[in-house]
Amino acid sequence: PTVPAVIVAIDGPSGTGKSSTSKAVAAQLGLSYLDTGAQYRAITWWMVTNGIDIDDPHAVAAAAGKAEIVSGTDPAGPTITVDGVDVAGPIRTQEVTSKVSTVSAVPEVRSRITELQRSIAAAAPQGIVVEGRDIGTTVLPDADLKIFLTASAEARAARRNGELKGADVNATREALIKRDAADSSRKTSPLAKADDAVEVDTTDLTLPQVIECVVTLVEEKRAGK
Ligand code: DC
Repeated sequence: PTVPAVIVAIDGPSGTGKSSTSKAVAAQLGLSYLDTGAQYRAITWWMVTNGIDIDDPHAVAAAAGKAEIVSGTDPAGPTITVDGVDVAGPIRTQEVTSKVSTVSAVPEVRSRITELQRSIAAAAPQGIVVEGRDIGTTVLPDADLKIFLTASAEARAARRNGELKGADVNATREALIKRDAADSSRKTSPLAKADDAVEVDTTDLTLPQVIECVVTLVEEKRAGK
């Protein structure tokens, strides 16, 4: 029997294991995968590269439609290009990370990227796992399953530090708290848990445990429980 496409929304602050969890769940269940943070990073990279003053919301809004962002949704090797250029590396720099919250707070940027995200989700043959900050609340409010991942600030900073070799854990924690505060307090679709999302606190869980928990929730949904 054919299984209907399933849409899974995974939201939460940085360092909760969203990307690793979402990719693994998608791979295990044969679903597509979309990293929406990478799209906001890509448009930020484009703004910086093209000399747009990111502190001027009018300039950012006027430029919001100019970059052509393409996301490859295979969980085994997700890709991201802007105007045909592979930006997977450049979008992870400190400069882009420090500017992405400012750019992604501009409503014209959000509407453009949201539209892109909805069309990618609608085109996924078996369904998709979409991770971000506003997926369950704004982008895909009718998702079949919504997960909200949390973890203590200490756990999140320690995980992020493991990815950034040689970084100072206190500086990482401060930067992370600052970015989450900006993402949670912006006017347009802030980071928030949807009322019908399942909250999973990952502070004391290993990555395999979080993956198993989410896979079980998807399978229960599919079985109609
Ligand atoms: O997941 P990430 O750290 O790569 O996301 C980078 C930034 O992009 C995050 O600080 C806020 C923004 N973002 C957003 O505003 N909405 C999303 N759905 C995903 C990310």
